[in-house]
This record gives sequence, structure tokens and C-alpha cells, in this order.
Amino acid sequence: MQKVNFKNIFSRVSLLLLVAMLTFSTSVFAQEGDAAAGKTLFNSNCAACHKLDKKATGPALRHVADKYDRDWLYSWIKDSQALIKSGDAKAIEVFEANNKAVMTSFPALSNADIDNILAYTSEEKPLPPAPAPGTGDGVSASGSGVSNNVILGALVFVFLLLIVMLFLVTSTLKKIAAHNGVEYAVEESRKPLWKAFVENQFLLLVSAVLLLLTAAYFMYGFFMQVGVDQGYAPVQPIHFSHRIHAGDNQVDCNYCHSSARKSKTSGIPSLNVCMNCHKNIGEVSEDVLAEGLDEHGVDYNKEIMKLYDAAGWDVSTMSYTGETKPVKWVRIHNLPDFAYFNHSQHVTVAGVACQKCHGPVEEMEIMEQFSPLTMGWCIDCHRETNVNVSGNAYYEKIHEELSKKYGVEQLTAAQMGGLECGKCHY
Ligand code: HEC
Ligand code: HEC
Ligand code: HEC
Ligand code: HEC
Ligand code: HEC
Ligand code: HEC
Repeated sequence: MQKVNFKNIFSRVSLLLLVAMLTFSTSVFAQEGDAAAGKTLFNSNCAACHKLDKKATGPALRHVADKYDRDWLYSWIKDSQALIKSGDAKAIEVFEANNKAVMTSFPALSNADIDNILAYTSEEKPLPPAPAPGTGDGVSASGSGVSNNVILGALVFVFLLLIVMLFLVTSTLKKIAAHNGVEYAVEESRKPLWKAFVENQFLLLVSAVLLLLTAAYFMYGFFMQVGVDQGYAPVQPIHFSHRIHAGDNQVDCNYCHSSARKSKTSGIPSLNVCMNCHKNIGEVSEDVLAEGLDEHGVDYNKEIMKLYDAAGWDVSTMSYTGETKPVKWVRIHNLPDFAYFNHSQHVTVAGVACQKCHGPVEEMEIMEQFSPLTMGWCIDCHRETNVNVSGNAYYEKIHEELSKKYGVEQLTAAQMGGLECGKCHY
């Protein structure tokens, strides 16, 4: 009498399956372009003439990858004029439909770059109305959410496949056994499924590992959030876009946050500062208005009216009524009281750019906390950043002594004393 070793076969099949799944998932995900990289490329190369959802100098580009085949797009983007001259019918049609406006050539873009751009233009349009507290506006650092979902999805998929395989293998084996006239212990196969499951040690192990991994993933996410408000982007009483002010209109950070250079705090500007400009700017331009409504779900002109209301500005008489209401900006960055942080020391003395700590503010439609603001974050930077000593007599002297002590050319903030507890806690 032949004996079929169920456990052994289960184990092998499951293992093979796991390996196959992993190879499959990595190869599939590797083929898609990287939309984040594509966004950067798009903004620096294409945004001057193309918008995603509206015609500008060139056509709207959302989902353009579905309209043409990839090779045509590679040729078009690298050199559209050459394609037109070669007599390509589609190229001529697009050219003529756009009044023969000439698109710039991009011979330096690789096919991979173009894949990235197209991955970005293929993203679904984000849904207005604007974000709830805690979510960014697509600009937030929450890009990791996508890959986390992918991992979770893959885990669930593997698990389901394992179960399906279990059934398939059992029935196949039964058939083979019946065909060959092999006898097997009938009681064992009649066992309820859960019992068979419990007795199969390998399957138990795999499920336990999967469960533990999932639990660990959630626990990690939970604990890392405690006390860390990275990505915090509350809804403000007036929708204020740093992208429009500091980005598109290039208003210097120091125009509004003037005390960052001179004092400990950086502060939020008073409404007088806003009114320096907004006495004359009561409405945004047509383009900006449409973009606000379409892409961000905000009526910018209404927001300016809120500013007038708070500052007590009467548009019809172009004068102040004297009735002001304070705007209660929600504070975003907030260290605990026992930690001391000084802006001027970092901005003026050390020459650290605002963006190093606050991220690409000039791209933020909604302000958010970019850095974790944990002690580890402060310390890491103090270990890595060299102190700027040029033109500072006091530092040059200390620097000379300390660099001898450490035997280095360049001192880090840490070597200057930036790790001493008392510098940040007292
Ligand atoms: C100087 C302006 C300009 C720049 C910069 C530009 N384009 Fe264009 N693009 C156009 C114009 C204009 C057209 C319409 C065809 C024509 O008139 O040549 C067009 C057409 C296209 C089309 C065909 C769209 C359709 O729906 O038929 C694609 C795809 C495209 N551009 C991609 C890009 C990409 C990707 C970039 C950045 C790497 C880029 N373009 C940069 C002006 C520009
Ligand atoms: C036209 C005025 C203006 C300009 C220019 C400006 N800001 Fe602001 N900033 C504000 C206002 C108003 C707020 C409060 C509303 C908000 O958080 O969006 C703010 C909030 C902030 C905050 C968050 C404050 C908090 O509550 O923790 C940071 C950080 C910041 N700005 C950095 C910058 C940087 C960096 C630049 C330059 C790239 C800049 N700002 C340019 C007006 C301005
Ligand atoms: C240096 C000039 C300047 C200052 C200072 C300034 N703004 Fe603006 N603001 C602008 C310009 C320019 C626009 C956009 C006009 C356009 O592009 O059509 C704008 C647009 C706006 C809008 C509509 C877009 C959006 O961000 O929601 C609001 C609301 C606004 N400003 C509020 C404020 C507030 C509040 C302050 C003070 C904290 C302020 N502005 C300070 C120049 C300024
Ligand atoms: C070395 C990192 C670092 C740099 C550089 C930096 N900040 Fe900050 N910023 C912080 C931290 C940390 C806080 C939170 C401070 C607190 O809660 O006491 C903060 C808070 C703020 C706030 C909230 C109000 C306040 O003063 O607490 C604003 C506004 C701000 N920063 C603007 C700026 C601007 C504008 C620049 C550039 C001129 C800048 N920051 C440069 C780390 C930095
Ligand atoms: C982007 C890098 C960076 C980050 C982030 C940063 N620092 Fe600093 N910090 C520096 C540099 C560079 C210096 C040296 C400045 C100088 O020349 O005195 C410094 C100096 C200091 C000093 C003075 C040390 C001394 O020897 O006198 C204190 C206090 C300090 N930082 C506190 C903090 C705190 C608190 C945080 C976090 C909330 C923080 N820093 C985050 C770069 C950073
Ligand atoms: C460069 C600045 C800096 C230095 C140096 C520093 N700390 Fe901190 N520390 C911080 C900041 C900022 C926080 C607040 C972190 C938060 O809110 O998550 C903090 C938080 C803490 C906490 C509260 C627990 C926590 O993680 O939130 C303790 C305890 C602490 N520090 C002890 C120390 C000791 C002991 C030293 C000396 C070995 C030291 N720190 C040196 C900046 C510093």
C-alpha cells in the first residue's frame, strides 16, 4: 500500500507559490513609471505649456498615454517637429489642431523619464472638496501610503491563494489516489477543514507569520504616530496658499515671517502685512480662480473676502471700517515647552534654508508639518551639518581650538556642543 505524504506536498507547493508571488509582484510593480519623479519632470519641463485638466498653450495632458501608443509618444516628446516633418499623419493632425504652435523638443529625456511623466499624467484627478484635517493636498509626505497598501494587498492575495491551492491540491491528490487505486486514511480526509488546518504544521506556521507581520505593521504605524505630528495640515480659517504666494508670486518668506532671522520665533504675519498687497488685490486672475475651483476645490476670491472681513476693509469705499476680527490661525509646528529651539540661530547663524526643515513650502497649497520634530531629528542634523564659521570671529577662535581637539578640518554642530542636553533642555 502506497502512502501519500500530504504535509510534504503542501509545504512544497506553498513555498513555490510564495516565491512565484514575490517574483511576480516585483516585476509587475517595476514596469510602471514613478509618478512622483514624473511630477517633478512635468513641472520643470512641461508645465509652462501644459496643464493636466485644462488646455493651455498645449492640450490638457491627463490620460494622454491612453490616446497614443508609447513609441509614438517617445518620438513626439523627444522631437515633435521631426515627427511632423517625417509626414506622420497623427503628428500633423495634432500640430494643425493647435494652430501650428511649436512644442519644445526634449532630446535629453530618456524613455524611462517619459514613462515617469506619463505615469504622472495617468493619475486620477484628485477629488475636491478640500482635505480633512491631517491630510495633505497630494503634496504631503504620505506617498508611502500607496506602497503600504500594495504590501498589504499582496499579503492578503498570497494568503487567499494559499487557501485556494489547499483545496486544489487536496482534490487533485484524491483524484490521483483514486485513479491509482491508492488507499488513504479516509477518516483523515473527512476531518473538518479547521482540524486539518490545525494539524498541518507548515500552514499554521505560514499563517502565524503572516498574522504577526500584519500586526507588527499596524503596531509600528500606531506607535510611530505617538507624539509625532508629521504631515499635520489643519484647515485654516482663511485658505492661505504658500504655493501661490511664495511659489508662483515669489514673495520672500522673510516678507511675512520677518522675525525668523532676528529672534527665537518666526511668527505668523499680522493682517496689516497682508493688506499691504491686498488693498489692491481683491480678486485673483481668471486662470488662478479656475485652477482653485478645479484642482483644489477652493474659491480663492471668497477667501480674500474673508481677509477683508477680518481686517475690516470695505471694498466699496476702499477704506477701513475699524471693525476687525482676529484670524485664529491654527498652529502647526509645536515643540513641547521643555525643548528650546531658536530660529535665528539656525537661519542666520548657521545659514540653514527654511526648506531644509519645513520642506518645499513654495509648492504647498496647504501648509503642513514636513519634519518629525523629534529629538532624534534635531540630533541627526547636528551630527551631519558642518558649522558655518566664515566671517564670525568668535567662532573662528573656538573652531581653531576644537578642530585641533577633534583633528578635523570641518566641525559639525554636534562637535560644537550641539548634543549637550542643556543646550536644548533647561
Ligand atoms: C513650449 C510649449 C510646450 C512645452 C514646453 C511642452 N509642450 Fe507638449 N505640446 C505643445 C503644443 C503647442 C502641443 C500641440 C501640438 C503642436 O502644436 O505642436 C503639444 C502637444 C503635446 C502632446 C500631444 C497631446 C495631444 O493630446 O495630442 C503631448 C503628449 C505633449 N505635448 C507632451 C509634452 C510633454 C511630456 C512635455 C514636457 C516634457 C511637453 N509636452 C512640453 C507645447 C509644449
Ligand atoms: C504672504 C505671506 C507669507 C509668505 C510669503 C510665507 N508665509 Fe508662511 N505662513 C503665512 C501664514 C498666513 C501662515 C499661517 C497659515 C498657514 O499655516 O497656512 C503661514 C504658516 C507658515 C508655517 C507654519 C506655521 C505653524 O503654524 O507651524 C511655516 C513653517 C511657514 N509658514 C513657512 C514659510 C516659508 C518657509 C516661506 C517661504 C518659502 C513662507 N512661509 C512664506 C504667510 C506667509
Ligand atoms: C507681497 C504681496 C502679498 C502679500 C503680502 C499677501 N498676498 Fe495674498 N495674494 C497675493 C497675490 C499676488 C495673490 C494671487 C493673485 C493671482 O495670482 O491672481 C494672492 C492671493 C491670495 C489669496 C487667494 C489664494 C489663496 O492663497 O487662497 C488669499 C486668500 C490671500 N492672498 C490671502 C492673503 C493673506 C491672508 C495674506 C497675509 C498673511 C496675504 N494674502 C499676503 C499677494 C500678496
Ligand atoms: C533647523 C530647522 C528649522 C529651520 C531652518 C527653520 N525652521 Fe521654522 N520651525 C522649526 C521648528 C522646530 C519649529 C517649531 C518651534 C516651536 O514650536 O517652538 C518651527 C516653527 C516655525 C513657524 C511657526 C511659528 C513659530 O515661530 O514657532 C514658522 C512660521 C516657521 N517656523 C517659519 C520658518 C521660516 C520662514 C524659516 C526660514 C526663514 C524657518 N522657519 C526655518 C524649525 C526650523
Ligand atoms: C537642518 C539641520 C538642523 C536641524 C534639523 C536642527 N538643527 Fe540645531 N543647529 C544646526 C546647526 C548647523 C547649528 C550650529 C549653529 C551655530 O553655528 O551655532 C545648530 C545649533 C543649535 C543649537 C546651539 C548649539 C550650540 O552649540 O550653541 C541649539 C540649541 C539647537 N541647534 C537646537 C536644535 C533643536 C532643538 C532642534 C530640533 C527641534 C534642532 N536644533 C534642529 C542645525 C540643525
Ligand atoms: C538638539 C537638541 C536636543 C538635545 C541636544 C537633546 N534633546 Fe532631548 N529633546 C529634544 C526635543 C526637540 C524633544 C522633544 C521631542 C518630541 O516632542 O518628540 C526632546 C525630548 C526629550 C525627552 C522626552 C522624551 C521624548 O523623547 O519625547 C527627554 C527625556 C530628553 N529629551 C532627554 C534628553 C537628554 C538626557 C539629552 C542629553 C543626552 C537630550 N535630551 C539632548 C531636543 C534635544
